[in-house]
Amino acid sequence: MADGRGDWGAERRELVPPNPTPLSSPSTGGRRSEGPSPEISASKIAPSVCRASAGDGPSDALPRIEGDETEAARGAARDDRAGGAPYPARMKQLLIIWHSRTGAAEAMARAAFEGAQKQAEGDEACGARLMRARAAQAEDLLAADGYLFAAPENLASLSGEMKEFFDRCYYPVLGRIEGRPYALMIAAGSDGDGAARQAARICKGWRLRDVQPPLIVNTSAQTPEEILAPKVLGEDVLARCRELGAGMAAGIGSGIW
Ligand SMILES: Cc1cc2nc3c(=O)[nH]c(=O)nc-3n(C[C@H](O)[C@H](O)[C@H](O)COP(=O)(O)O)c2cc1C
Repeated sequence: MADGRGDWGAERRELVPPNPTPLSSPSTGGRRSEGPSPEISASKIAPSVCRASAGDGPSDALPRIEGDETEAARGAARDDRAGGAPYPARMKQLLIIWHSRTGAAEAMARAAFEGAQKQAEGDEACGARLMRARAAQAEDLLAADGYLFAAPENLASLSGEMKEFFDRCYYPVLGRIEGRPYALMIAAGSDGDGAARQAARICKGWRLRDVQPPLIVNTSAQTPEEILAPKVLGEDVLARCRELGAGMAAGIGSGIW
């Protein structure tokens, strides 16, 4: 970091195969639209790593749900317990829990929520609930049938609020959610493996089942200015998140996991 840029990619570079497989093409017309192709890195269930591209508009274009703005947007502390009404008892439920500082992980979570809702409109088998990490409680985890956790990587780990959620809820639900399916979405500047590994380790402790590879989105933020700027994700990346949400809802609803 001697040149003032983050060096978050150092460890991941060793994990990335020499000929990464493109997953999506960056769109044009906004910040960070250029850059190398998306990459896949190897792991037990290999994470999908997307290079984020400029979007068609800010995440504000997505439906707002009370109490889950980014830290950048919300200003003073507020009660953010709400996050989408629980679905009727007959439906299974996907719980999407997120934290975000500058909007990337929030947009990913909202897109996944949209995808899950769309799926629910079709098969009415699994509803979805979207909650900010600080609002989520142990009983919310207990009430759900599967989970999608979306967070930024900060200092090679999960962001503090996401980690605090896991710290707060870990023991209250330990032994009570075993075998339930989960997936991860990580927003990172150029790495994301550290946060993905940390979250996977926590979920392994809960004996959750990783049913989808972690979706890691790299926003290419490296300088302090880029890192602190609000993030806008491209439609290609958001589509991947919608797919993940829809896939989780479909899988939970059909009971295949
Ligand atoms: C304090 C801090 C630490 C960060 N550490 C990392 C890191 O370890 N690895 C990385 O790839 N990106 C790192 N970043 C960049 C963010 O992960 C990136 O900007 C991401 O898009 C943030 O997601 P968000 O918009 O949901 O907050 C860091 C950003 C901040 C503010």
